This record gives sequence, C-alpha cells and structure tokens, in this order.
Amino acid sequence: MPVFEVDNLHLYYQTRFGDRIPAVSGVSFSMEQGEVLGIAGESGCGKSTLVNGCTGLFIPPLRPASGDVRVNGVSIMNRTPDDIRRKVLASKVAMIPQGAFNALNPTRKVKDLAADMIASHESGLDRTTIYRRLRKRFDLIGMDTDKVLNRYPIELTAGTRQRCVIGISTLLNPKMVIADEPTSALDVSTQKTVIGMIFNLLDKQIFSSMIFITHELPLLRHVADRIAVMYAGEFVELGTAEQVIFSPRHPYTGALMGSMLSAEPRQKCKKPVTIEGAPPNLARPIAGCRFAPRCPLAREECKHDKQELRMVDERLVRCNYA
Ligand SMILES: Nc1ncnc2c1ncn2[C@@H]1O[C@H](COP(=O)(O)OP(=O)(O)OP(=O)(O)O)[C@@H](O)[C@H]1O
Ligand SMILES: [Mg+2]
Repeated sequence: MPVFEVDNLHLYYQTRFGDRIPAVSGVSFSMEQGEVLGIAGESGCGKSTLVNGCTGLFIPPLRPASGDVRVNGVSIMNRTPDDIRRKVLASKVAMIPQGAFNALNPTRKVKDLAADMIASHESGLDRTTIYRRLRKRFDLIGMDTDKVLNRYPIELTAGTRQRCVIGISTLLNPKMVIADEPTSALDVSTQKTVIGMIFNLLDKQIFSSMIFITHELPLLRHVADRIAVMYAGEFVELGTAEQVIFSPRHPYTGALMGSMLSAEPRQKCKKPVTIEGAPPNLARPIAGCRFAPRCPLAREECKHDKQELRMVDERLVRCNYA
C-alpha cells in the first residue's frame, strides 16, 4: 500500500469578495515507502499551496474543493484543525514550511522550542526526560548539541536554524516529511550541509518518504527518485528524475530546464533561456492548455482543447503533442 496518496485534489483561495481562485487543479500522485518525490515549477505555480493542502490543515483563505489525501490508506480530509495538529502533523506527516527557519519564535531557546513540540504530542513527560531525549536525537543527527540547544534562534546562522527546524520537525519519527524549499536563501555550502542532513535522517530511517520542493530542477537530480513538474496549478509531467531532467517531454519542462544555468554535464542547453510571457491568471477560466500562450510548439487547437495527463515514453505528460 502506498504510504501517501493524493487523489484528484482541487484547492482554492477564497477572496474577501467571495471569489474562488483555483490554485491547485486535479493533482494526483502516490508515494511508496522510501521514495523521494521532487516537485519543481516556477514561482507561483502552486507548489506550496499543494503541499499545504497535503497536510489536511486548511488555513484560510486556503480551502479544499474536492479530492482526497490519504496517509497509510486513511483519509486526512474533513478533519478539524485540532485533530490534524494532534494526530497527523509532526507524528505522521512533518511539514517544513517555506522560510520556517526565519519564523522560529525568537523568545524561546532551541531546546524549549523542541521540548514544546514533544510535550504537545506526548503528555506526562517531565522536562528532564524530554531534554535527555532531545540531546540524544541532536547527537545522532550530528548537531553541535550543547551549543545549539541552549541558544536562541537569533544567535544561530541561517543554516543551523534550518537544521534545527528539520531536527525538531522529525523528532516524533514521522514516516513522511514535506520540505518546502528547505535550501532556498542559503549559500551553496550551507545548502549541501542541509541536504546532507536530510539524507542522513533518511539513511537512519528517522523518516522514510519525502516530498522535496524547489524551483531548481537540477538540484532534484541529486535528491529525488521521481519529479513532478507543476505549471499553473497542475502537474504537467511526472516521471523519474532521469527522465524529467535528461529527456523532458513536456515543452514547459524543457523550457524550465533551459532557463536554469546548470552544471549538469549531460544537459544539452548550456545557455540560460527565458520563458517568454507569464503564467495565466488563475482567477479567470482557462479553456485549453494552460501553457499554450507561452509554448513554442502550440497549435491552434491547444488554445481550446484541455490536455489530460497521459502516458508518454513511460512517464505522465500533459501534452497531446509531446
Ligand atoms: N493567501 C493567498 N491568497 C490568495 N492567493 C494566494 C495566497 N497564497 C498564494 N496565492 C496564490 O496561489 C498561487 C500559488 O502560490 P504558491 O505560493 O503555492 O506558489 P509556489 O509555487 O509555492 O511559489 P514559490 O516558488 O514562489 O514559493 C499564486 O498565484 C499565488 O499568488
Ligand atoms: Mg512556495
């Protein structure tokens, strides 16, 4: 049985004027134990919206329209926020939100932030027991435990804060981790340390499956087993990392790859190219292919005919002409 399944999920933002902006439209995927799924796509394509919806916690103005999310075969939709916080988040699904390391409570030491998290899920533990457990975990994951636990977040570098966020998020050994751009805004050597830490946790089986979001496709080459490419709220391609990076079939995936200056020796495109135009306004109904107005290969019919995901060359592609 898949450890995590998303089934035809539709999510929208409710505006103050009562309009619905459909930010995620019909996304489906499932994940097996031990798998890392990368999600890539340019800014605003809906990556964070999708994974926020994947936690079952809907913070206004985000709302689910339809679809299902299942953890170990059990739906986590239509639950109260309190139920999700107590029974799903941190214990089954750990979320490392975008920019979390800049949002740590500045008035609490790292050890208290971590202890609060444990105490909110496991009642009856005294602080000494919790701190002992914390020290053991921070030692195990290669943190400079003494230095880090007794500091306030503001006293630590961005990279160390991010490693603390990851360490704290995974304290309850959730099977599934969702990391939303965990390395963005960090310098290259710190990015490597953070990625190294994530894989150390995977190796030690502290968690077993992960969704890893970035807008950098080449980074996913080193991180992900499979990659989903998102455009305007939809998956446009879903295949193995190898397929998506080295032989993309959707014109948008190709353009996204070309738009990144990549050190990949096998990447054909050495010069960055820009993708002309802008993504569609999701507030307005879109008839045909969402990428058609920017697609160099678009035909007249692409503007009118909705494209469905179909199997092309052993991966899913949302383009009738791929
Ligand atoms: N609170 C909100 N209210 C209304 N619309 C929103 C809200 N948050 C995001 N959106 C819209 O939803 C769409 C998807 O945004 P989202 O943050 O999911 O994109 P993203 O792919 O994570 O981008 P980035 O790479 O910049 O993090 C965008 O058009 C964005 O403007
Ligand atoms: Mg985002």
